[in-house]
Amino acid sequence: MNNISARGLDRFPREQFEIASEMSNPDAVLLRSAKLHDWDIPDTLKAVGRAGAGVNNIPVDAMSKRGIPVFNAPGANANAVKELVLGGLFMAARCMGPAWEFSRGLTGTNAEMNQAAEAGKKQFTGFELPGRTLGVIGLGAIGVNVANAAMALGMRVIGYDPQITVRSAWNLEAGVRRAHSVDEVLAAADVVTLHVPETDDTRGLINGARLAGSREGQVLLNFARAGIVDETAVVKALDQGRLRTYVCDFPAAAFEGRTDVIALPHIGASTNEAQENCAVMAADEVRDYLETGN
Ligand code: MLT
Repeated sequence: MNNISARGLDRFPREQFEIASEMSNPDAVLLRSAKLHDWDIPDTLKAVGRAGAGVNNIPVDAMSKRGIPVFNAPGANANAVKELVLGGLFMAARCMGPAWEFSRGLTGTNAEMNQAAEAGKKQFTGFELPGRTLGVIGLGAIGVNVANAAMALGMRVIGYDPQITVRSAWNLEAGVRRAHSVDEVLAAADVVTLHVPETDDTRGLINGARLAGSREGQVLLNFARAGIVDETAVVKALDQGRLRTYVCDFPAAAFEGRTDVIALPHIGASTNEAQENCAVMAADEVRDYLETGN
């Protein structure tokens, strides 16, 4: 029997593995958001499974040097993230964040509140999606899901990914236009959504210089990783009106008190279905590796 340390994977369905919350000499570790960077890698470790898409909570280089493969779960939470992205898109288009804040501040009788609502609602005039252009940066499983859903909503979609896989290209709706650069997407889109992993190449990808060339009044959605976007540049672009709204899945001090930022607490994959899909996919991969060496 292999030792798999499975923190938080309480619904792991395979009986052939011993599940333990704490093990000192694991053959493998399965994890979700815990950070392994300061972990003293035990000599027994043979594989790591990440129940999610991103692997930036794992020292992949250090693992590789020791010959320890890291398995993730690409696509297993794509639907969950897509749904949250669409929620963010609707929220931004219809000013739901500030409108909700406004409503929460109303007091008095129902009649008084409704009167105040009618008087105040002009500031929450939004825009509709059909005919608007969505720019998708990163066409992996999540980006493709978002692009296809936007097409179904009547949006025009322009996508960019220099490393698109055959599978993603195959799954992408025919009407999605392919761009040649990030700048091309930023210049063309009314709404931009980011779906790239955080790497040395993508850190700070959306910065002041890029935002300066973006379409005026753009909505920026970031459900990928906080580090892909330069927060100071975003604040400046919001102040200048270059960005209309920034919707992200990461709170940040820079956005405190702003009504033009909707910042969620990294809940993109927080559905029961996604948690299970990711856990099973990562565990399956680790099990296969331990059993077959592949
Ligand atoms: C992912 O990398 O899969 C998502 O960001 C969700 C998560 O980190 O759990």
